[in-house]
Parts: sequence; C-alpha cells; structure tokens
Amino acid sequence: MNRPFSQACENNKQPILNILIKVFSSSEHVLEIGSGTGQHAVFFGQYLPHLTWQTTDLAINHQGINIWLNESILANVQRPIELDLNDTWPDLTHTNNKPVDALYTANTLHIISWPLVIKFFEGIKNNLASQGSVCIYGPFNYQGKFTSESNANFDSWLKARDEQSGIRDIEDIITLANSTGLVLADDHVMPANNRLLVFTKK
Ligand SMILES: C[S@@+](CC[C@H](N)C(=O)[O-])C[C@H]1O[C@@H](n2cnc3c(N)ncnc32)[C@H](O)[C@@H]1O
Repeated sequence: MNRPFSQACENNKQPILNILIKVFSSSEHVLEIGSGTGQHAVFFGQYLPHLTWQTTDLAINHQGINIWLNESILANVQRPIELDLNDTWPDLTHTNNKPVDALYTANTLHIISWPLVIKFFEGIKNNLASQGSVCIYGPFNYQGKFTSESNANFDSWLKARDEQSGIRDIEDIITLANSTGLVLADDHVMPANNRLLVFTKK
C-alpha cells in the first residue's frame, strides 16, 4: 500500500496547530476521532510533544495511518485503535491509565449522518474528563446559510454521494454539545471557509 496523502491536511495543518498549541497547552491525552490518513496526528504530535496523541478510525484506515507513524518515529503518537461511532467507544484508559482530557476531530461531522453526530457527542460525554477540551475543525453553516459558494457546492457533492451527510448548522451543533455538558469557548475563522470550534466540558 502506498502512503495515503491528503492535500487538504497539508494546507490546514499549520493554521490548526496555531490554535491547538494554545487550547491543548495543559492537556495530556488527546483522542482523535477519524484520523484519516494520519497526517494530522504526525504533524501535531511532533509540535505538541507534551501530549499523548491517540489515533483512531475505522479499521480500513489503520494501515495507512501506520505507514505515517512508521515513518515519523514519534513516541507520543499512538497506533490507531478502532473507534466506529456506530459502536460503544473502546476503553481508552488502558492505553495511558488516565482518562482522555482532550478530543480532536477534523472534517468528520459533515461526513457522518446526524444520528452519528449525536453518538459522537454522547461518546464525549461518557469518555472525556471534566474540564476537558474539544476541538472540531470543518465547515459549518450559520443561520441555515452557507458561508461561501464553494461550501454550497461541497454540500451538494456530499449529499449526492450520501444523502445523510452534509454541512451542519452551527446552532444545531452548539445545542447538541450543550445537552452533553459542553460549552462553546471559541469559534475560530479558518482558511478556505472552515472553522475551528473549541468546547470545554463542564
Ligand atoms: C473526510 S475524512 C477526514 C479525515 C481526517 N480527519 C482529515 O481531516 O483529513 C472523514 C473521516 O471520518 C471517518 N469516519 C467515517 N465514518 C466513521 C464512523 N462511523 N466512525 C468513526 N469514523 C468515521 C473516516 O474513516 C475518515 O477518516
């Protein structure tokens, strides 16, 4: 298998890192949902050496993530474990003997169905330590409107391939997050009509 590559990850990794450096400054154990190629984990793990970064994804992506990890030689980025949002989350404490105190995900909430978005937040409620930080990167709509023509086109493309996917309304995400004990701390404007939402667990 060739090493998987995402140009989007190359483009967005530095702007995201600039925020993670601040938000995760006192975090210890980050859980990433939907690690994809593994590029983000390797880059962020390199520049956030105080963190243990646990990669996860569907099993089909593990081989690609492992190729990136094999080439990076980073002690703090952990091999992928299977975390399918359809299922109960695996026991995460056995990997580090401490609860996860930070969570990161990029470009996932518009890929999965709304029932899975609900499960995503339920999983955070059940697995993230109190005062933990959550960073969610991706495109969002505001007051039911796309923030750009390119996001509108992207949404049409998503729905043509899976009608349950699509760009989420920020208001729905905040309401759902609040119902699972998360409070919005920041909503950062990011390049290419994306956002980075930061939540804190009560
Ligand atoms: C668009 S990719 C984003 C990957 C990576 N985070 C990035 O920014 O490039 C969406 C990711 O969500 C993952 N995913 C899809 N369905 C999932 C599920 N049911 N549970 C967990 N992850 C899922 C995919 O395997 C994929 O890695």
